[in-house]
Amino acid sequence: MKADQSDHYFGAILLTLLLISSLPINDVQSETIQECSNPQAPETSHPIVIAHRGASGYLPEHTLAAYSIAIFQGADFIEPDVVMSKDRHLIVRHDNVLNLSTDVADHPEFSSRKRRKTVDGKATTGWFSEDFTLAEIKTLRAMERIPQVRPENTKFNGQFEIPTLQEVIDFVAKMEEFTGRTIGIYPEIKHPTYFDNLHLSMEEPLVQLLRTKGYETQHTRVYIQSFEVSNLKDLNTMTTIPLVQLLGSGGQPYDVIGAGGTLTYAQMATTEGLAEIATYADGVAPEKYAFLIPKDHDGNLSLSRASKFVQRAHALGLRVHPYTFRAENFFLPANFKKGHDPFSLGISAAEMEIFLQAGVDGFFTDHPNIGVQARNKFLDKNRCIGKRTIPK
Ligand SMILES: *[C@@H]1O[C@H](CO)[C@@H](O)[C@H](O)[C@H]1NC(C)=O
Ligand SMILES: *[C@@H]1O[C@H](CO)[C@@H](O)[C@H](O)[C@H]1NC(C)=O
Repeated sequence: MKADQSDHYFGAILLTLLLISSLPINDVQSETIQECSNPQAPETSHPIVIAHRGASGYLPEHTLAAYSIAIFQGADFIEPDVVMSKDRHLIVRHDNVLNLSTDVADHPEFSSRKRRKTVDGKATTGWFSEDFTLAEIKTLRAMERIPQVRPENTKFNGQFEIPTLQEVIDFVAKMEEFTGRTIGIYPEIKHPTYFDNLHLSMEEPLVQLLRTKGYETQHTRVYIQSFEVSNLKDLNTMTTIPLVQLLGSGGQPYDVIGAGGTLTYAQMATTEGLAEIATYADGVAPEKYAFLIPKDHDGNLSLSRASKFVQRAHALGLRVHPYTFRAENFFLPANFKKGHDPFSLGISAAEMEIFLQAGVDGFFTDHPNIGVQARNKFLDKNRCIGKRTIPK
């Protein structure tokens, strides 16, 4: 590692240590459930907590700072979304529309770079990652993507760089040394058909990078996910890394639309659909209300109408990682809200526990500290009833 890179990492870690005084951090050690020796206890899995875009409930998403807070909060995996730059670098952003989460609009030198394009059928005016080199993207700074919901996060606007996937992976390695824990990565390829059409295909460089970094032989520490189908089928022939099919709450995968196909996400969630997914993927990531437990007309979570999705997927050998658990009242079912402020935190841990009881193998959350608490409580109840030993 070059000295300047290493300074950058340690700078980010130091910054993190300054930040954690004001952000919720789990004491991972004392929260860790001790292995039970109770032979009667059911053999339950150890559901994983996936930090959705980092600890994005607390800091601008997809920044090394957001990932490091997530890791300090005890997340098992961090989730980087990837798009591509003009010069073929894998950039970590939720959108190729850079003005949604960076300060690009405030850079007069890029004002002429604004374009109107159609991405996955949606016309958008903005600044696009594929029109910028990595060096140019490195002059931008991250901004909170949903400032209306997360006004507190905006105090970090303008402070953090836009990382490349390689930087995130190197940072995770540093954080593993630093914490003594294994931390997985769960990259999502964004808009694969769109980027393919620009001759900026992301699958090959992603596999190459993960291979170089040793992930191809470490299947417990990596998943690749996508909302599209054909790129996952391609990946299945290119790598043994576990693959996860995302299921949107409605509509169709964009590659299917592009090819004039009729397959919908709803059809993919049937037993026949899941059986097809099992031919090329190792897991499914369903939208939690659409496919697992719906909300009723009052907006309450309706346990009595829970589906058998998890059992059907498990019967086919597929892991199930639903998305996205967000703790603000705004996002929660009516019966998990607390108080009247839509942007203050509700009773999210209780919601997570209900999905854990439904048998999920992990879940994506913007609030990894709450996810880890809920997961540990679930393990405590199910595996170690009356047997938990609290380390002194
Ligand atoms: C930035 O992106 C959004 C969403 O694509 C778009 O609606 C908006 O107009 C853009 N902002 C500017 C200043 O162009
Ligand atoms: C929804 O939840 C609220 C709060 O727990 C409860 O008062 C209400 O009766 C519930 N509505 C239905 C239809 O169950």
